[in-house]
Amino acid sequence: MKILITGGAGFIGSHIANYYNEEGHEVFVLDNLASGYRENISFIDESHFFNVDVCDKEKVETLVKTHQFNVVIHLAAVVSVVDTVNDPIYSNKVNIDATLNMLEVNRQYNTQLKKFIFASSAAVYGNDPQLPKNTQSLVQPESPYAIQKYAGEQYTKMYHHLYDLPTTALRFFNVYGPKQDPNSPYSGVISIMKRQFDNDASFTFYGDGEQTRDFVYIKDLVNAITRVVENEATHGQVLNVGTGNKTSVKDIFNAFEKSYHKSLAHQFEPARKGDVRHSVADITPLKEIGYTPQYTINSGLEEYLNS
Ligand code: UD1
Repeated sequence: MKILITGGAGFIGSHIANYYNEEGHEVFVLDNLASGYRENISFIDESHFFNVDVCDKEKVETLVKTHQFNVVIHLAAVVSVVDTVNDPIYSNKVNIDATLNMLEVNRQYNTQLKKFIFASSAAVYGNDPQLPKNTQSLVQPESPYAIQKYAGEQYTKMYHHLYDLPTTALRFFNVYGPKQDPNSPYSGVISIMKRQFDNDASFTFYGDGEQTRDFVYIKDLVNAITRVVENEATHGQVLNVGTGNKTSVKDIFNAFEKSYHKSLAHQFEPARKGDVRHSVADITPLKEIGYTPQYTINSGLEEYLNS
């Protein structure tokens, strides 16, 4: 298959690219390297790498017309919540306008499309306490990022209902694994913790550390994506991607101490504004198409920390 991954030089995209490349598919990556790294996808040669801004409508149109991709996995986005708060207008262009354009050029010019996947986020659920989160749960966006992801996924869904485009939107929960960039205070907590343990630098708990998340190992997320790509019954759907289990930040910290055979200095600061207390995904619909997480939090952490 010819597979286009937008944002394919980032943490998640590079793992998906690697998987399909090793499976012998023809993988193309579109990435402007704003938050991705060319080194993440050194296995992709220059003829399959497009250093293109996803907002560049003409270039995106030409690429879709020329290559007639069978699968489009659309991950390119302003991925930092804080960046969307600081610049809602620009991030709206990237996260909503460019998504709509990607759908539209595929509708108009791609006769070979078998699946279009859009990466949404658990952020759309916001602070509603009902658990587990399923796709009928209340949507309560708390940031431009969450609004933009919600708009993107709803356009994605609508393009199936209106135009019969084979689309699926996936709400990613807390993904972790090798290549996740720890270098922003709002990076995934597991990547930050790893950096602190590697450097013997103290770790800050925001809140009491008892807050929980559904941490999903990157290989499970890739597995979920491959299932959805192959499944026509998921056209027009929005699905959670997580594990169905929740783990507290403190339990992660304890697992790190065990794995590193050392204790690490740490302190507690007030919980972040708007922080979600507990989060866990209902993944029943994904299980119905044959997905079962292969990693527990312990086996995922073990593989990550030894990678
Ligand atoms: C995640 C998303 C975020 C989204 C939010 C909405 C990631 C990386 N972030 O945030 O984009 O808006 O879901 O559901 O997936 N923590 C610490 N110390 C640290 C860093 C974090 O105690 O140094 C705490 C946080 O306050 C939070 C928990 O760890 O309570 C998890 O943090 P994080 O990995 O940023 O994920 P979310 O808060 O779930």
